[in-house]
Parts: sequence; C-alpha cells; structure tokens
Amino acid sequence: MCCCFFLCFLDGWKKRWVESKHQPDYGKFQLTAGRFYADKEKDKGLQTSEDAKFYALSTRFKPFSNVNETLVVQFSVKHEQGIDCGGGYVKLFPATLNQEDMHSESEYYIMFGPDICGFGNNKVQVILHYQGKYHENNKTIKCRINKDTHLYTLIIRPNATYEVKIDNQQVAAGELEDDWDFLPPRKIKDPYARKPRKWDERLQIEDPEDKKPEDWEDSEYIPDPEAKKPADWNEAMDGEWAGPLIPNVKYKGQWKPRIIDNPNYQGEWIHPEIDNPKYKPDPTICHYYNISVLGLDLWQVKSGSIFDNFLLTNDEEFAEEVGNNTWGLRKDIEKQWRELHEEMEKRKQEEEARQKKEKEEEKKDDIWGLEEEENEEDSEEEPGNDGQMPGGEAERAFLHKNEEVLVDQKDEL
Ligand SMILES: *[C@@H]1O[C@H](CO)[C@@H](O)[C@H](O)[C@H]1NC(C)=O
Ligand SMILES: *[C@@H]1O[C@H](CO)[C@@H](O)[C@H](O)[C@H]1NC(C)=O
Ligand SMILES: *[C@@H]1O[C@H](CO)[C@@H](O)[C@H](O)[C@H]1NC(C)=O
Ligand SMILES: *[C@@H]1O[C@H](CO)[C@@H](O)[C@H](O)[C@H]1NC(C)=O
Ligand SMILES: *[C@@H]1O[C@H](CO)[C@@H](O)[C@H](O)[C@H]1NC(C)=O
Repeated sequence: MCCCFFLCFLDGWKKRWVESKHQPDYGKFQLTAGRFYADKEKDKGLQTSEDAKFYALSTRFKPFSNVNETLVVQFSVKHEQGIDCGGGYVKLFPATLNQEDMHSESEYYIMFGPDICGFGNNKVQVILHYQGKYHENNKTIKCRINKDTHLYTLIIRPNATYEVKIDNQQVAAGELEDDWDFLPPRKIKDPYARKPRKWDERLQIEDPEDKKPEDWEDSEYIPDPEAKKPADWNEAMDGEWAGPLIPNVKYKGQWKPRIIDNPNYQGEWIHPEIDNPKYKPDPTICHYYNISVLGLDLWQVKSGSIFDNFLLTNDEEFAEEVGNNTWGLRKDIEKQWRELHEEMEKRKQEEEARQKKEKEEEKKDDIWGLEEEENEEDSEEEPGNDGQMPGGEAERAFLHKNEEVLVDQKDEL
C-alpha cells in the first residue's frame, strides 16, 4: 500500500516540484551541493537562496495511507550558512492540496524537522494533525545547529508509538498519546480527595525536649552597675530614674531549640488519581489518508539551507539503510571539507584585516597620499589559493568504491 518514495535530486527537479504562486515573492530554491560537500554531484540538494523570504515548494506522489502501516519520513538538511532564524522542516499534505496555492496556512498532516530562531530556540518540530487541530510535541527535542548535514527521521507506527532520530540515533521515542495532547489525560486528580488536616509534611521540627539552660544570658544590654542616681534626681518631676545600659559581656544571643528530624513526618501528600471519565482511547490517532504531497513551506532570515534525500517509506530498517548510504557515507568527508573551508575563510579574513590596517597606517604616515595607488595594486595581485573549493578529484577517488549505491531507488514514486 504505502511504498517508497525517494528523491535525491540529480536532475529534472523543476519538473517534479511546483512553486506556489500564492504570494508573488517567494524565495527561490537552487540545486547545489553548497560550499562544502563530499561529492559535488551527489550532494546536490535544494537550497534556499534569498535572505528574509518565505519559501513554498512542493512535490506530489501517488497517494497512500499509513493506516495499519508504519510511516517513516526522512530527509537531510544542511544549514551551511550558519542559520540564525528559519525553518528546516518538511510538511506532508493530503492529495487535496493545490500546490500552486500552497502557503503557510494550507492544511497539512505532519510537519517535521528542525526549527531554529535565536539563541536556545532550536527544536525539532513534530506537529501532527488530529481532528481538525495541530498538536505540537510536548517533549522538547533539541536539533543540531552546526553547519553539517544532519539526517532527520520520524517514525509513526501502527501501534501508536513513535520515534525521532537524528543522524540515525534515537533522540525521542514513546507513545503518541503521552507526548502529544491528542486526548484528555488518562488519569486525573481525584476531585473528592482532600489532604487530611493533620497530615504532617514538616521534614524537620524544633526539638520539644530541648529547654533553655537556666544560666542562659539573653539580654544584650544590662543596666550599668556602676551608675548612681544623681543626688538631685527628683522622682516627682523627673520620673523614675533608670540608669544607662551597657553591653552584657555574658550575652549569648537569642536561645533557640535545636532542630531535629520530624519523627511524625508523613511525606509529601500525594493527590490520589482516578481514571479520567473524559478519556477515551482512540486507535485512529495519526491515521492519514491520501498522503500525497511533500512540501517545503518555510521562512528563513539567512538563507542557504540545503534539503536532500527525502524519503517516505513503511520500512524502518530500509530508511536507516538509506540514511547510512547517503548521509552516513558522506558526513565525515563533508566535515573535513567544512573545517578546511572555515580555516581558509578565517585566514582570508585575517589577511584582509592585516592589509587594511597596514594601509591605514601608511595613510597616516603618508600625509601627501603619494603611495596610495601603488599599495592598492599590491593587494590586488595576491589572490592566493584561498576561497577556492577543491575541485573534487581527491574526494571523488575516496568515494569511488561506494558510488551509486542507491541508484535504483532514486525517484521512485
Ligand atoms: C486496519 O486493521 C484493522 C484491524 O486489523 C482492520 O479492521 C482495518 O480494516 C484495517 N484498515 C485498513 C485501512 O487497512
Ligand atoms: C510497537 O511496535 C514496535 C515495532 O513493531 C515495537 O518495538 C514496540 O514494542 C511496540 N510497542 C507497543 C507499546 O506495542
Ligand atoms: C503537554 O503540555 C501542556 C502544556 O504545558 C500540558 O498542559 C499537558 O498536560 C501536556 N500533555 C502531556 C500529554 O504531557
Ligand atoms: C482519497 O482520495 C480519493 C480520490 O480523490 C477519494 O475518493 C477518497 O475519498 C479519499 N479518501 C479519504 C479518506 O479522504
Ligand atoms: C547503519 O549504520 C550503523 C552504524 O554503522 C549500523 O550500526 C547500522 O546497523 C546500520 N543500519 C543499517 C540498516 O544498515
């Protein structure tokens, strides 16, 4: 019934994907492997190419249902631009979607993938449609925010369990019912239960046995024993004489009984729970019919994310294998190139900064501006080797033995 749909974009993508015209100014996607990759051809994916734009692109396949079947949604995304704020997720739509008019309000079944905006706000969205409403995953799943390609996998099983994997490693799993607000909770606090009035929740108490010692001095000041009532004190006029106070040298501070563990401690009172009369299990959660369109409906501030290796299947193991044979084969080489690329960028910037500073200093000395032109020529003559991505011969040789592993699955609907 379900089947397999796998896209890895070697060519002709424009024929299979539809750009929405709902808004006149959606951002453009381009097909590219980006600035660093393991294989310039095979790592080509759909890249967002314009900053601060909405994107709306989708592709249609033969409708299928996941009822009584496992559904696996998998894709890879590389935020090589160093994403600051933007979506990196896919959406699955019903067959009724008009692709030419797809937009952020178009009804969808599933939204899955990383969503990043600002510091600390980086999570994997798993939004599932159920009875006319969208339900967000309650359990927060952090996504990866570095610049490397990552593989995202969502599995929804017919026994109403799910799993989310990043880079083929489980990051969340459980029952759909527990981690989304599809249904009212199974249990609620018993509305008739009350904490007994005498319930003792005090962990520690003052020791009732502890008594203040007889000789405990708790007066901080005492009347000065040396002071004498002035001879001319007239009690009738001046009131009763009270001598000056002096600090009490024996003062020991306020007496307090010692603290002991409460022998009657009963623990924190736990409100008993009862079955929720409003709860009714529903075996049809996440049963989707006519799943037929996969879309990229995104907002991105800084563009440059590359989406690739979209896979829909009912076979978890196959999905893992596809992940291993795409992302898995390339990740280490890609990372090496990324590091090299960053190193070169850094050196280029340092060099530029150094040249700029030098020039400024020369300008300061050279108040007549005589040497300026000459210097500019100098700096232009130094392109060096930086900034140029290696042509790929080396890495192609490296990858040779694994080439074309998945050719026959490509583009099957
Ligand atoms: C799914 O399985 C249930 C129980 O085996 C069966 O009654 C139902 O017809 C199946 N539905 C589909 C769409 O295959
Ligand atoms: C659901 O199905 C999966 C895969 O078949 C299995 O590993 C898991 O134990 C099942 N869980 C429940 C709660 O039935
Ligand atoms: C999910 O989160 C909401 C809001 O924090 C909470 O009210 C609800 O009980 C949670 N649901 C589950 C199933 O944990
Ligand atoms: C699926 O699409 C077909 C063809 O458009 C339609 O006849 C059928 O009712 C749809 N099924 C559901 C459950 O929406
Ligand atoms: C995927 O690769 C991992 C790590 O090498 C391996 O443990 C796993 O068995 C592989 N899975 C499949 C389905 O080939």
